[in-house]
Formats: sequence, structure tokens, C-alpha cells
Amino acid sequence: MNIGNTRKNYKNQESIFDDIKDPLIKFHQWYMHACKEVSEPNAFALSTLNKNVPSSRMMLLKEYNDRFLFYTNSSSKKGADISQNKNASMLFWWKEIHRQIRINGNLKKIDKKRVEKYFYSRPIESQVGALISNQSNPIKSYDLLIDKYHETIKKYKNKKIPFPKNWIGIELIPKKIEFWQGGEFRIHQRLEFNKRGEKWHQKILSP
Ligand SMILES: Cc1cc2nc3c(=O)[nH]c(=O)nc-3n(C[C@H](O)[C@H](O)[C@H](O)COP(=O)(O)O)c2cc1C
Repeated sequence: MNIGNTRKNYKNQESIFDDIKDPLIKFHQWYMHACKEVSEPNAFALSTLNKNVPSSRMMLLKEYNDRFLFYTNSSSKKGADISQNKNASMLFWWKEIHRQIRINGNLKKIDKKRVEKYFYSRPIESQVGALISNQSNPIKSYDLLIDKYHETIKKYKNKKIPFPKNWIGIELIPKKIEFWQGGEFRIHQRLEFNKRGEKWHQKILSP
């Protein structure tokens, strides 16, 4: 099927080129704006590598400051990728405001105490969901998984859910951040920041 005619035009937006020298401040401004306009602004695509073969999946961002934090399961495909290769890329697409942010950097596990604190802040049902999932590994059937969920809920009624040993928190330490704003006639605005030493350097890129 040819879908080449599926085309959405973006209206010209205000200039994204301003005096902000720090992309982390710009990310914060864009994120705050996205919170007002976008249904799940914290959703992003995470790309990892396994022997040069890339793999992407959607994730949820849980914290940002000078690093970008998410939680996952170390037994998963991405867990295996990350244990071999610390390079990764995060991609946010905020379609309602025609904005994309691309972040590249290295991944680093956060300490277990912080992971536990977040884990126990989640609803009991999500804690159990995480406990019973050996993420990305094959299971016999979905029904058996649901049975296991109900059994586990019953088993730990009024008790503390054991912390799943495979549950990890990972931060991406950014080296490159690109801001993209869709423009009319595909004349988009692109601003790229690269970190060299402690300093961020910026350049405008052709769309
Ligand atoms: C919007 C959205 C958010 C998601 N957030 C997470 C998340 O924060 N952590 C996670 O482990 N999986 C999350 N998932 C599931 C992943 O996309 C993926 O299926 C899972 O992590 C297994 O990926 P892997 O086999 O590549 O390791 C999310 C999926 C969607 C659609």
C-alpha cells in the first residue's frame, strides 16, 4: 500500500532559537509546555544496541535534572543490551505541538535504595505486576500469568511485597540533545547541543 500522500502540514511556530545556553534548562521549559498540551509527555522511545543491532521500545521518564531516569527489568532484552553497551538514545515526539527531542548519552544504574523507594511508592497492583514479570522472557500463556497475579495479590494481602531483584533504575547521562520544531513546508527548526568537557556547544542544523 502506498501511503505517500499521508501528509500533515505544520504551521510556522515561534523561533526556538533564543539565549538559553543550557539544553537542560531548555528541556525543562519544553517539558513544562508539553505537560499542558500533550497527553503523555513522559513517554519516549529508548534505543539500545546489541552487537551493533539497534532495538527501540517506548518507556516512561520518571525524573529529569542533569540526567534522565527510567525504571525497567534487568532480565529484559534492553537489560541484556545495556549490560553490554552503555550507549543509548531517547526520543520524545510531542505530536500535538510538533516537537521532537533527541537525547544521546551513556546509561548508568542508580543505587538500589533509590529504586526501592520508588518501587514502594507505586500502587500495590503495579508492585505485584513487576514482581511476577520476568520481562521479555517467553511465558506459557497469558492466562497463567493472570492467575499468578491473583495468587500473588492474595498471598501478600496486608504484607509487604518482596522487592523484585531484577527491578532497576537507569539514568541516561546526556552528551547530545537536539530540539526540533516542525515548520511550514518542511522547513523545520533544529537546534543541537553537544557536550565537550563540562561545556555545552550549540549549532543550528538544516532541516
Ligand atoms: C507508553 C509506554 C511506556 C512504557 N514504559 C515502560 C517503562 O517505563 N519501563 C519498562 O520496562 N517498559 C515500559 N514499556 C514497555 C516497553 O515498551 C517494552 O515492551 C518492555 O520494556 C520490554 O522491552 P525489551 O524487550 O526491549 O526489553 C512501555 C510501553 C509503552 C507503550
